[in-house]
Amino acid sequence: MDDLPSGPMPERRTILVTDDSGPNRDLLCGQLSTLGFWTEAATNGEEAVRAARRLKPDLILMDVEMPVMNGHEACKQLKADPATAEIPVLMMTGFDPRPERSKMVEAGGDDLIVKPIPMRDLQVRVRALLRLKELRRDLRSTQESLRELVKREDPTESKAPFDDSVALTAQALARLIGLDAEDQEVAYHAGLLHDIGQIGLPEALLNKQGGLTPEEFAQIKQHTILGAEIAGPFRPASVLAPAIRHHHERWDGAGYPDKLQGPAIPMMARIVAVADAFHAMITDRPYRPRHTVAKALEILAAGSGAQWDPRLTAAFATSSLPQRIAGTQGEEAKIA
Ligand SMILES: [Fe+2]
Repeated sequence: MDDLPSGPMPERRTILVTDDSGPNRDLLCGQLSTLGFWTEAATNGEEAVRAARRLKPDLILMDVEMPVMNGHEACKQLKADPATAEIPVLMMTGFDPRPERSKMVEAGGDDLIVKPIPMRDLQVRVRALLRLKELRRDLRSTQESLRELVKREDPTESKAPFDDSVALTAQALARLIGLDAEDQEVAYHAGLLHDIGQIGLPEALLNKQGGLTPEEFAQIKQHTILGAEIAGPFRPASVLAPAIRHHHERWDGAGYPDKLQGPAIPMMARIVAVADAFHAMITDRPYRPRHTVAKALEILAAGSGAQWDPRLTAAFATSSLPQRIAGTQGEEAKIA
């Protein structure tokens, strides 16, 4: 998703510029007007949150250091409110961007740019974030449609095809390996929807305890193909359906349904595979208690380069992500 469309945007978009410095606000609003956008201005985080709720802008530029309410706090409030959560937020800083970037991620911001901002950089980032907003809208509508469909097929939700834990881990893993905000968003939804094909399988088979017969396993494998067929017509079809179809492929080519190998496996499917495996390992199963995080990481390391993409398992294991996930699951005691 690196190629940027050129030419004018299809309609005039509104950008909310938040900066306590008057000259900075004027400069940015002037640059954005030149690029063809409507602009609105706010002088601190509190004003920005109020203005965003009222105006529903397409994008918010948010200075970090501001009086009354700083940019991080404002960003957190915007992302916590469903009415404004989908609006991309571009944080702006005049300081060293490295520590600022992790604070930006923590606050739920979408990108960070260092001031003063050259016009070309501003244009590139703004266009990328406006595309992100469209992608979010598509993914939300896809998710809503699929939830409706699943509700009709599985009213008691006993087949549980939506997995928020795997989704959040897939998104974090995408961020960890440096994928852009759009791919992080797709990773979340791929993680959420990866087992949607289970709605086509009998409940008794999904809940069966003990070993599966070869026929039963062949039936289970079908959930990848079914899932891709279900998600196929929904946007963005070019990435979502392949992620679902291939989430049980293995790096060594011994997986299913297509025995894809190594980099031929779509990146989103590789990401979901690691996230899914880790969560399965640290969750109680009818046939075994949950593994400790240490044990789960050991299993991932052993399967690195065989079952899973070695780059992903290495990035995951050397990050603070496994511990953070365990923390959210009340697993602190089991980390050691
Ligand atoms: Fe699966």
